[in-house]
Amino acid sequence: MNTLLLKENKQDIEKAAEILKNGGLVGLPTETVYGLAANALNGKSVAKIFEAKGRPMDNPLIVHIADFSDIEKYNLVSEIPKQAYKLADAFWPGPLTIIMKKSNIIPNEVSAGLSTVAIRFPSHPVAQRVIKASGVPLAAPSANLSGSPSPTTALHVINDLNGKIDAVIDGGVCDVGLESTVITLATEVPRVLRPGGITVEQLSSVLGKIDVDDAVVHKLKDGAVASSPGMKYKHYAPKSNVILLNCSDSEYIEYVNNRADDDVAALCCDEDIEHLEVCTYSLGRRNDYKAHAQNLFDMLRKIDDDGVAKTVYSRLPSIKGVGLAVYNRLIRAAGFEVIDLEKD
Ligand code: TXA
Ligand code: MG
Repeated sequence: MNTLLLKENKQDIEKAAEILKNGGLVGLPTETVYGLAANALNGKSVAKIFEAKGRPMDNPLIVHIADFSDIEKYNLVSEIPKQAYKLADAFWPGPLTIIMKKSNIIPNEVSAGLSTVAIRFPSHPVAQRVIKASGVPLAAPSANLSGSPSPTTALHVINDLNGKIDAVIDGGVCDVGLESTVITLATEVPRVLRPGGITVEQLSSVLGKIDVDDAVVHKLKDGAVASSPGMKYKHYAPKSNVILLNCSDSEYIEYVNNRADDDVAALCCDEDIEHLEVCTYSLGRRNDYKAHAQNLFDMLRKIDDDGVAKTVYSRLPSIKGVGLAVYNRLIRAAGFEVIDLEKD
């Protein structure tokens, strides 16, 4: 299959919509990461997403809409909980996914056999225009090969999926850089299943008491059932071995420089670069967590593309604000491998 590279003009958006209406797959920009979209109401089209990505069939997809009223218009859920209105008022359109009880219209391929469905109203104008032009809600996971870092540019999508999907729309670099925050309203107390651009602090300022799923920062215990199936897979894994260090800034520099001979690289901050004697990949200024989120996946991909580092050392990120989302992705990229220098 020849993958078309489309632009964000009217003609190309219509072309993308046409492909989607005809059951095809289109990679498109959102404010979080690029998504791989198909008509969410057509199980056969949705099944192609799993094939192209090599995604396990038991991992459900997010349904993307272009207005809150689409939930009722397409009859996506069995009931809209009160908290959903509050969350939508505060954070939609934007990087928040809300899980609710699904209606019968949702194909099994989307919900992977669960009784719930995840819904998101993205703020990216291109995503909104494509959803509106295709006249259907769009099921879209991140547009990467399953297991590799999510794509934050059209080139990342091409690198992973060229020849496997019908088209990609180039909408530049994604603003947030990490996937949306996922919260479920299908539990008694709303529960964050995946941290993202909307922080836990922001969510609880609107909802009051919320829970944060254990799997956000901890490895699932063997045999435990994941509230969000995506949590159980080793995600975002670069080919190099990523190891996280729990230590001070100076300990980090010393630890890494002591290993400078051994095909080592540092996933670090701008301020570290002049002190490090190894190849560096910077996430941005030390306290700029938003920049860390935006750059993380791009840097993980660069490390792979350069192919020089066998081991990559990074510091354990802060869990404050959007730092929690960076922590959640990085600890998975590291396969939960953390060396605690503070303990010594
Ligand atoms: O920012 C995003 O959310 C991007 C863009 C394209 O919108 N999409 C994305 O989709 O990250 P994906 O498929 O890569 O991640 C969706 C996550 C998975 O961890 C999945 O298990 C979880 O949401 N999920 C989806 N539906 C669910 C449900 N009904 N119950 C629990 N978890 C669900
Ligand atoms: Mg994904």
